[in-house]
Parts: sequence; C-alpha cells; structure tokens
Amino acid sequence: MKIFDVYPIYDIEIARANGSDLWDEKGNHYLDMYGGHAVISIGHTNPHYVKTITEQLANIGFYSNSIKIPAQQQLANLLGEISGKNDFQLFLCNSGAEANENALKLASFHTGRKKIVSFKGGFHGRTSLAVATTDIPNIVAPVNQTDNVVFLPFNDADALKEYFAKEGQNVAAVIIEAIQGVGGIQVATNEFLTLIRELCDKNNAVMIADEVQCGCGRTGKYFALDHSGVQADIYSMAKGIANGFPVGAIMISPKIEPKHGMLGTTFGGNHLAVAAAIAVAEVIKNENLMLNANEMGEYIISELKDVQGIAEIRGTGLMLGIDLETNAAPFRKQLIEKHKIFVGSASTPQTFRLLPTLNITKEQIDVTIAAIKDLLKEI
Ligand SMILES: Cc1ncc(COP(=O)(O)O)c(C=O)c1O
Repeated sequence: MKIFDVYPIYDIEIARANGSDLWDEKGNHYLDMYGGHAVISIGHTNPHYVKTITEQLANIGFYSNSIKIPAQQQLANLLGEISGKNDFQLFLCNSGAEANENALKLASFHTGRKKIVSFKGGFHGRTSLAVATTDIPNIVAPVNQTDNVVFLPFNDADALKEYFAKEGQNVAAVIIEAIQGVGGIQVATNEFLTLIRELCDKNNAVMIADEVQCGCGRTGKYFALDHSGVQADIYSMAKGIANGFPVGAIMISPKIEPKHGMLGTTFGGNHLAVAAAIAVAEVIKNENLMLNANEMGEYIISELKDVQGIAEIRGTGLMLGIDLETNAAPFRKQLIEKHKIFVGSASTPQTFRLLPTLNITKEQIDVTIAAIKDLLKEI
C-alpha cells in the first residue's frame, strides 16, 4: 500500500534526537530551529518527559472517560497555575483542529447563535468548522463551505465595528490567533484585541483565542494573548502542550457551563496523553522556560534586526517571522542543505519562521545566526 501523498517532503530521515539536536540515519547532525512545527516545546527526548511517559505506560496507558482519571485534575491544576487562569475549566481532546472545533461548537451552544467571525490570514485547522474558519480556500472542501463564517481584515478596527453594528446580536464567536502562525507571524495589535473583547462583551459573544501555535509558553507568556492584557473566554491549545504526543485542549471561562454529553472524545484525556502533558507543564514551570523564550527571542531580534537582506522581523519570544527581501523558499532549502538547520515556511512567500524549543541555547542561536548571515551574503 502507498502512503497517500499529501505532504511535500525533504529527502531526510531523522533517526534520533536530543534537545534541539537531530541526527539522520547516516549520523549527520541537524539543528532544529523549527521545533517540529512549534510542537517540541521542552526539547526532543527530554529525560523527565521520557521517564514520566514510560512509567505511565507500564501502569496503564488508556481507559475511557467513563471512569475517574485523577491525573486530568492534576494537569488542570498545573495549567491553571502556569497560565494564571485557575478559575477556568479544562476539556481535553487530541489535536489543534479538534480543540478549535470544540471551542466553536461550545460558543454556539452557549449563545444559541450561528455566526462566527474569523480573520484574513487565519489558520484554525482542517476539521469541518475549523477549516471553515481558515482563510485558505483550496483546503476547504465544498461540504465545509458555510455562510455562518465571515472573514474580516486582520487588525482592521473599522471593519470589525461595522460588522458588529449590523450582525452583533447573531455572533456566537470571534476566533483569533493573537499571533498568526501559518499566516506569516502577523501580530494582532493590543487595540484590536481590546476592541474584540469589548464588542464580544457588549453583544454577549464568545472570544476564542486560538493558541494552538502561539500558546503554551512559546511567546514568553503562557498565552500570546496575555501580552495584551485581554482575557479570552476560551483558549484552544495543542502543538506544544505535550511535546509531540497528540494532545489538544480548551480552557473555558467559568461563565460557560458544562452539560453532560455536550462535548466528548474517545482518546482525549487518556492516561498516557495526560502524563505527557503533565511532564511538559512541569518542565516549563521548573526550568523557567517562558523566561528563556522571552530572553532568547529578544536576543535573536537584536542580532538580526540590522542584517542586510532582512526586510522585517515580526513576533515575540520564540515565535518569529523573518521576511527576506527575496523569496524565502530557496533560502530555507540552502539552510538545510548547506548548514543542516531546520526552519519553517509561511503562507507569505518571503517569510521563514523560527519556532525552536523553549530551552534553545544562546550557542545554538549563534550557530543559526551565523548561517543566516552567511547565506544572505551569498544572495
Ligand atoms: C493556529 C493553529 N490552529 C490550529 C491548527 C491545527 O492544529 P492540528 O494540526 O493539530 O489540527 C494549527 C496547525 O498548524 C495552527 O497553527
């Protein structure tokens, strides 16, 4: 049987990993400045993570949500503590798309309404409602097309006010990435985020922060939205929450009441998944990784901001988008082939993304910066 061919891939096979270091099957070394697409938050094969998961697997890996799983409460307590949102409620699922699907569905249940406001450049996943709120028309199948979603320009206060003036009473939710990832690291302004909060409050709509990529400490605070001082009603999470183990989650405001049967999943919140997420939260907390993300992000920006060939750097902490003066695709290819460094692409062709592990070191950043400068000289 063939693998269904949907991913353009590099001809590289990674056989072993440690922290931000990767080795292929021939023993060649690579540096991971991409975090496996913002997923590897605490480093590959982190010893505490490996030990926690291994011990859990030896005890019990899975049983259904029909029994007590006390580790779920332990995870909720930890996430409440590191995010500062102890009064919120936690629902566990399996991916970023599923987290957003549940967030949007919950907003509709809560308000009894159907309209969703999303933004140009936004990416929220590939399940039916998540993809309907994603601004990439060629990944939306005909069956996913719906009039219930409207796309407004990102950071455009007038367009948002105008829409709410007409349709505010029909809006179930506004979904936004405080820093758009796939869209090319576009940062929402504090004024825009504050306006969303005000309009949602005035119209009893639900504000959903999609923190699947920008959350879990990546920007130096647990949620990227926290930099604005605005609080959402629902935060969706995945990627970095369990360092590669498939875990998604939503954190839900106390004002939204649960009802039995409202949401559900077979795998979400299972023993093994929860052990993985607990280990990650413990490492983020105990090793002060949000502080490192903040400091290393500032260091990268200070080192690259005046380099010739770089048009712009956007983002916060370890979620950075670097715009070249030329197309970034050949540059990324060279970075891998010549310097053996992985970085990410974005939907804006001139952008490449740095999304390394939150415990990336200054030395590893220096290697990356030297390689970037070397390649830019050639261009
Ligand atoms: C902001 C954002 N939301 C949702 C998703 C979807 O997550 P998943 O691929 O885990 O379904 C992604 C994935 O890249 C994302 O970046």
